[in-house]
Amino acid sequence: MRDFDAQVQEIAARYPDSRSAVLPALRIAQERHGGWLPPEAFVEVAEALELTPAYCQAVATFYDMYHLAPTGKHLVEVCTNLSCALARAQDVVDAFESELDIRAGETTEDGEITFRVVECLGGCGYAPVVAVDHRYRHPVSPEDVPAIVEELRAGA
Ligand code: FES
Repeated sequence: MRDFDAQVQEIAARYPDSRSAVLPALRIAQERHGGWLPPEAFVEVAEALELTPAYCQAVATFYDMYHLAPTGKHLVEVCTNLSCALARAQDVVDAFESELDIRAGETTEDGEITFRVVECLGGCGYAPVVAVDHRYRHPVSPEDVPAIVEELRAGA
């Protein structure tokens, strides 16, 4: 893998203000750290872009695609914004919590599945939308949930 700093500098060079590269730099850092952003990742991004770690962390906390804690092997995300909420997204959330025996924001004890609720996934016309390992399923009903979990547990 190419040097982190070189990758970030290459991206930063595309912008008049290197601060504009903070989002892709955080993405690269997240990939390097196994899918989440530990405190040292913010230091690395900050040093590469001449920002502060606090600024980088503040940016990361705003976006759902950055993880501030380790995630499970699989990631299940349910959109609960307006269109999805009107299409029973909360019932889908309840079904996942029941099926996985965890609350939204938690990871199953075996480390297999992290379950989260997220802001709009951009598929409002297909509500409710569920992202399973970043691939969208829609529309998902509470009745679909056991099969999705079974599929993940089977290693699909
Ligand atoms: S509101 Fe759920 S995808 Fe937009």
